[in-house]
Amino acid sequence: MKITIIVGTRPEIIKMSPLIRVFESRDINYFILHTGQHYSYNMDRIFFEQLQLPDVKYNLDVGSGSHAKQTSEMLLKIESVLKKEKPDLILVEGDTNTVLSGALAASKSDIKVGHVEAGLRSYDRGMPEEVNRVLTDHCSDLLFAPTVNAYNTLIGENISSEKVYITGNTIVDAVKHNLRLMDDDVDVLSELGLEPQKYFLLTLHRQENVDDRTKLKNIFLGLEYLREFGLPIVYPVHPRTRKRLNDFGLESDVLNFIEPVDYFRFLQLEKHASLVLTDSGGVQEESCILGVPCVTLRENTERPETLDAGSNMLAGADPRRILECAGIMLGRVNGWDNPFGDGKAGEQITNILESDMDGN
Ligand code: UD1
Ligand code: UDP
Repeated sequence: MKITIIVGTRPEIIKMSPLIRVFESRDINYFILHTGQHYSYNMDRIFFEQLQLPDVKYNLDVGSGSHAKQTSEMLLKIESVLKKEKPDLILVEGDTNTVLSGALAASKSDIKVGHVEAGLRSYDRGMPEEVNRVLTDHCSDLLFAPTVNAYNTLIGENISSEKVYITGNTIVDAVKHNLRLMDDDVDVLSELGLEPQKYFLLTLHRQENVDDRTKLKNIFLGLEYLREFGLPIVYPVHPRTRKRLNDFGLESDVLNFIEPVDYFRFLQLEKHASLVLTDSGGVQEESCILGVPCVTLRENTERPETLDAGSNMLAGADPRRILECAGIMLGRVNGWDNPFGDGKAGEQITNILESDMDGN
């Protein structure tokens, strides 16, 4: 069997890394295709280097653009690689434009599609990611649901149970693996002059938050209200948000703006934060896994397991609600169970792929 792993953005590289490690150890015939959706060093290459991932065989250099431009260019370019390489299966992870393009290009070329992290739903079609998730799930042949909830969602959408497997989320594998390595390599708290449990960590990049001037201003106002806790707020700024802050002429003197950091540094920042504030999908999961309370700056989440566990609250973009949720979460005792699996998702998915290929 020959497999193509398709990646394009920071979270896909991180969440595919456990699978790549298992493929390497089992000598599986595969190669990596990178769409080039993310391309800045600190959003892309840095993760290949730090996580010691093999080089990609193809980088399609698609870069940034409108959704239609990005998706259509990826579709065409992925198709031409698939024609040449003729893999038996492609694997995509998550909900980005790279994922939708990869899944569509393969299914239209009669190549099997495996979707890692299938079955997530925010039920908010205003998010580009929600459309990508639904369409990808419905053209996939193998769906790797991270949780029972995600499995039930897929079955509820009439996807055959024969295609769906509950595997846990590969983010648990990635967190566990890299927690063991990071402290030997970096000490970001000293670099930034921070003390454990004495700072907040912020990430913010969702299109519906940061491309909307009013919402972004409201979120910044909410973050200003957090001044009353007397703790610094460290904010590695996503390039989309950096651009919007410039466009809107928005500034904040309560935020400690830094460039996006590598995975070891980010995990360290998360692990020692007293509170995480975010609109990221992966960061909601990681904070839950690490036992750090989280306030999500969105009205909904496709990770309801974090709400059920008690690790996360939804504050939306309402300044007062951001302050209120921060106060509640700071007082919350961190005793929740991690709902995303045991850190063996990469192995489980590989086992399923091997037996699926044997059966065909
Ligand atoms: C994309 C995904 C989002 C995911 C995020 C992870 C889609 C629809 N969105 O959003 O689901 O959560 O990645 O971080 O697929 N830019 C750079 N350097 C880069 C990449 C982007 O400067 O390496 C800037 C460009 O100005 C670009 C903007 O960021 O226009 C947005 O990039 P894009 O890939 O379109 O979307 P993200 O916001 O990164
Ligand atoms: N991350 C990182 N450096 C940063 C910010 C985030 O390594 O400066 C990691 C984080 O640990 C998580 C992933 O990037 O694993 C989340 O990516 P992002 O928030 O961009 O995308 P999403 O998960 O929302 O799709």
